[in-house]
Amino acid sequence: MTESKPFAPHCERNKEPILAVLRPYFEHCRRVLEIGSGTGQHAVFCAPALPNTVWQTSDLEENLPGIRLWLEEAALPNLPPPLALDVTGEWPKQRFDAVFTANSLHIMPWTAVERLFAGIETVLEREATLAVYGPFNYHGAYTSDSNREFDAWLKQRSALSAIRDFEAVDALASGIGLQLVNDHAMPANNRLIVWRR
Ligand SMILES: C[S@@+](CC[C@H](N)C(=O)[O-])C[C@H]1O[C@@H](n2cnc3c(N)ncnc32)[C@H](O)[C@@H]1O
Repeated sequence: MTESKPFAPHCERNKEPILAVLRPYFEHCRRVLEIGSGTGQHAVFCAPALPNTVWQTSDLEENLPGIRLWLEEAALPNLPPPLALDVTGEWPKQRFDAVFTANSLHIMPWTAVERLFAGIETVLEREATLAVYGPFNYHGAYTSDSNREFDAWLKQRSALSAIRDFEAVDALASGIGLQLVNDHAMPANNRLIVWRR
């Protein structure tokens, strides 16, 4: 029986606005590490638009078969097979000049978010870009009623999931030598935040 690709409707909705913001930051990057690639839909959409960039997907082992289905169908030279990467475990030895992650910080526990930044420090080239997409709170406040409802839903699902405070995440980024470049407003009360060093 042929396996069917996993499909996330939100990726179809947000992939174009995400690429529009990412493109100028990533088009001169050689190697992007995507963390928590999920289905792989962002990768197969962004990679053809960034032909000089190797887009390295990664996720927990259990999500790799689905990502492989998307990557095999896309058959693009700049989409190598996905890496198994649990941010709380061992990190790859390769270096990257960009890291991208979407909708992962509010899913993983805060301790894992801290490990994520510690791990990013070990894989980033000296000059590098980090781009994080998802909902954020500012000074502890929701930016919309829909984000407040989403946060309640997240916490019901898992007590350790939560929309993160921009200031706390920015402090982790500063701690690994990254400076905030831009905090882009995105559709549906999301943000795409970019740091560089
Ligand atoms: C809501 S999904 C987002 C997937 C995709 N980036 C998207 O925007 O559709 C959260 C992702 O974070 C990944 N994730 C959760 N905990 C993780 C961890 N400890 N290490 C790496 N990835 C993790 C999940 O496996 C999942 O793919």
